[in-house]
Amino acid sequence: MATTQMAAIMILRLLVDSSIDIAGPQSIGVCYGMLGNNLPNHWEVIQLYKSRNIGRLRLYDPNHGALQALRGSNIEVMLGLPNSDVEHIASGMEHAKWNGARWFTDPIVGFLRDTYAPLLVNIYPYFSYFGNTGQISLPYALFTAPNIVVQDGSRQYRNSFDAMLDSVYTGMDRSGEGSVGIVVSESGWPSAGAFGATTDNATTYLRNLIQHEKKCSPRKP
Ligand SMILES: *[C@@H]1O[C@H](CO)[C@@H](O)[C@H](O)[C@H]1NC(C)=O
Repeated sequence: MATTQMAAIMILRLLVDSSIDIAGPQSIGVCYGMLGNNLPNHWEVIQLYKSRNIGRLRLYDPNHGALQALRGSNIEVMLGLPNSDVEHIASGMEHAKWNGARWFTDPIVGFLRDTYAPLLVNIYPYFSYFGNTGQISLPYALFTAPNIVVQDGSRQYRNSFDAMLDSVYTGMDRSGEGSVGIVVSESGWPSAGAFGATTDNATTYLRNLIQHEKKCSPRKP
């Protein structure tokens, strides 16, 4: 991920430094990564896309400044929602906290609806497990729980992946801004370097994730 963003910055730099012009309408997209120092401001970046005729842009997270700068630009956007934001939405699902989470989701959903773009979501049950081992069990995170673990109204969850994905659907529906398509763009499990990160656990996760891809979540059966 960090490498991808670095690559994106490199591409941007290349465009700034040279006088390459992208020919052909809407044929190419450029990732807008924001890791780094001395980055040009959002407005300048969008101007650069326009001046180079770049009709598509990928954002790694819903950066409000960038979304503002993009409004009315006619640039097609692919917007990503990182795992930390998925957790943020999930934890805001309780009614008491929901009004606090709306300031976050409403502008995003409104923007996507206006531009007919899907939301790209990164879902890493590992990080929820890692940050919350008291409440989230390893089998629930690895798709190996034999029974229902979480009952949410009429919906039943055996794995954390579905619960995280559904929290995003619920968040989008509750925003009152209409609904948008959701695409899971990234998932995975680390194989070394931290608690629960073993090759065996990573293999289990990936194998079960691939099996699971054929199914739908309780909210979108
Ligand atoms: C998976 O991770 C847990 C810790 O969360 C560890 O105790 C266990 O040994 C790991 N399992 C395998 C098969 O590597």
